[in-house]
Amino acid sequence: MLYRNFLAGTTLFAALVCTGAIHASEPPISSAMITKSVFGKTSSGEEVVLYTLRNSNGVEASITPWGATVVAIKVPDRAGKLADVVLGHDSLAGYVGKTPYFGSIVGRYGNRIGKGEFKLDGKSYKLARNNGENHLHGGDAGFDQKLWIARPVTGQNNALELKYTSPDGEEGYPGKLDVTVTYTLSNSNELRIEYLATTDKPTVVNLTNHAYFNLAGEGDVLGHRLQLNAARFTPIDSGFIPTGELRSVKGTPFDFTTPHAIGERINAVDEQIKFGIGYDHNWVLDGQAGQLRLAARVSEPKSGRVLEVLTTEPGVQFYSGNFLDGSIRGKDGKVYAHRSGFCLETQHYPDSPNKANFPSTTLKPGQRYQTTTVYRFSAEK
Ligand code: GLA
Repeated sequence: MLYRNFLAGTTLFAALVCTGAIHASEPPISSAMITKSVFGKTSSGEEVVLYTLRNSNGVEASITPWGATVVAIKVPDRAGKLADVVLGHDSLAGYVGKTPYFGSIVGRYGNRIGKGEFKLDGKSYKLARNNGENHLHGGDAGFDQKLWIARPVTGQNNALELKYTSPDGEEGYPGKLDVTVTYTLSNSNELRIEYLATTDKPTVVNLTNHAYFNLAGEGDVLGHRLQLNAARFTPIDSGFIPTGELRSVKGTPFDFTTPHAIGERINAVDEQIKFGIGYDHNWVLDGQAGQLRLAARVSEPKSGRVLEVLTTEPGVQFYSGNFLDGSIRGKDGKVYAHRSGFCLETQHYPDSPNKANFPSTTLKPGQRYQTTTVYRFSAEK
């Protein structure tokens, strides 16, 4: 192995890892590194950058400190052809304001809290009702709308660490919350996301990443085949709030315990499909929460690209991009049509602060909120 510094494009943080013996004068055969470019400016004039993590297979993950957002993930198909498999924008402007949360970290509480209120230690807290009468994805300006502080960590496994401190009372949540999210791109084509948070007062926390995937790189996602390692899901009411029931998926359009095309049953006559306007529900993952285990596997038949999602979380929100309606133009002017991306938001269940039978989302001073999710990419014949 040969380690040496390297400068490319707008580059930077050097740390190049070459595998195999090469002469110092030869170009690298493979490289793992982080590069940096300008992504835009905030309304207050702060410059926002874009980091690109690249592994020794040429796989790339681009991340901006704005919302700790995953902007692009380039992975090969079965013939080795790279495509960007996440929806998003070419510059910062598309990510500012009211957005569908493309690739962002959502918090302090990912997904909904019914009527925007909850009680903790006997005290009531009121949050923004920014989704009908409910609270969604942290409120009017959630973590997706904050400029995080980034620190690149280079080496064979490239990593980008992002930090954000949410002040006590922000969006109505109690306690100052210190959050660290670390993205690591490995040479086995895994993008690992590690979440860490601590608080100075009891609060609730539920962090996730809101990447919209399209493993074909374009078109709708209805032909993608999905498997979810979940025997149960949490049915919702007409406002997308879980009823509290953990219902068996057996015999329903929610049974993805064996692979099914996303589009196969998405228009089924079913009350839950009707309430979700397609799939927009939380699945109760099998196995032990707290342990990293396979939650989902998605394959795209034409390209052969495969995404596996592993997580320590107890649940995953499978959202089939039902609110995308063609009104947003993204990268390269691409129109993001209905169901042209799907999300697998690993998480605690929606409305947990109001559901005593759901795994707790309470974080107390002295405790560490720590979860891990991995997006693993491959290609099959
Ligand atoms: C989550 C929600 C959806 C929608 C999207 C963002 O997946 O469950 O209802 O709000 O985020 O558009």
